[in-house]
Amino acid sequence: MNILVTGATGFIGTVLVDYLKKRNDRIRILLRPESDSGKASSMQVDICKARYDDPDSLRSAVRGTDIIIHLAGVTKSVDAKGFHDGNVLPVKKLLEAAGEVNPGLKRFVLVSSLAAAGPAGDPGTGVREEEEPQPVSIYGRSKLEAEKICQSFKDALPITIVRPPAVYGPGDRDVLQFLQLLKKGLVLSAGDVRTQRLSLVHVDDLVRGIVMASESPAGVGETFFITSPKGYSWDELLEAAVRELGVRHVRKISLPKPLMNFLGYVAGLIGKVSGNTGFLNPDKVKEMVQDYWVCSPDKAERQLGFTASVSLEQGMRDTIQWYKEKGWL
Ligand SMILES: NC(=O)c1ccc[n+]([C@@H]2O[C@H](COP(=O)([O-])OP(=O)(O)OC[C@H]3O[C@@H](n4cnc5c(N)ncnc54)[C@H](OP(=O)(O)O)[C@@H]3O)[C@@H](O)[C@H]2O)c1
Repeated sequence: MNILVTGATGFIGTVLVDYLKKRNDRIRILLRPESDSGKASSMQVDICKARYDDPDSLRSAVRGTDIIIHLAGVTKSVDAKGFHDGNVLPVKKLLEAAGEVNPGLKRFVLVSSLAAAGPAGDPGTGVREEEEPQPVSIYGRSKLEAEKICQSFKDALPITIVRPPAVYGPGDRDVLQFLQLLKKGLVLSAGDVRTQRLSLVHVDDLVRGIVMASESPAGVGETFFITSPKGYSWDELLEAAVRELGVRHVRKISLPKPLMNFLGYVAGLIGKVSGNTGFLNPDKVKEMVQDYWVCSPDKAERQLGFTASVSLEQGMRDTIQWYKEKGWL
């Protein structure tokens, strides 16, 4: 297969490219002027330099490809424009280019997010694909808008949408602060630590699921959550991590929502002044205080035959090992 990967130099993209290389697919990555060109060169794949606001360059990038996996996106931004420019416009421009010069395209996969669907109302089965999306953040709304654009090309191109929940594994930097605090025996949660539940997916499972969705005839025109079999409680997450970290006692502190809102507001102001997105801002707080970021694995299992295979214990072990090797833990 000739596969174009966007967002290839990011956390998930790096693992996806490695996975595809092992299958001997012919890989092309889209390199933006802002991308890490050193990292891209080290990947030893075809590189196509392009810009999402330059249709000619996009036509070159998509020409002759069998599958396009669009991973590129913005998970942190100081404002809505950043999310729109990073999550919405590239999808529209790529699909337009593919429609113009690649009528034989076998699949366009958009990697969206559980954030586009929003949290579940209860921890039971989790959000299902057919439910009306109710995103709670600007990030989630931008991912949903991208999904709608993708859906609008459904009659012209074979599209598939994949929605991962929180992704973890070696290469991810987002859980580092959580693990650094946990190593000191402290857990700070935004919301109620006793009730919150969280679906997760290990990056190795996710890239396998993305590829299954891109190749299965049952994936055409469909949306899938690629996720762990269940939503985990804080206790389950901690149990998986503390053993590897060698922590004996953990103090759990639930930060009340008004305090989180205040902290998010202040951090957001600092972010706007400094231009640094950080990990806390009012939009992130809206996501963090939700109780049930849980989605259902059923449809992907039924239609694609996908089930996650990396256990939480194994996944946490890999991730913590990677941080230790980096000297960060
Ligand atoms: N990580 C998670 O927990 C998670 C959960 C659900 C969904 N997702 C989705 O999965 C995708 C990949 O996430 P990730 O965790 O790998 O993120 P990441 O490490 O930040 O990688 C995203 C990549 O997108 C490209 N990019 C960055 N800014 C961009 C912009 N303004 N316009 C266009 N492209 C831009 C960059 O790749 P290049 O420089 O190579 O173009 C970047 O490395 C995203 O679409 C994200 O929304 C992630």
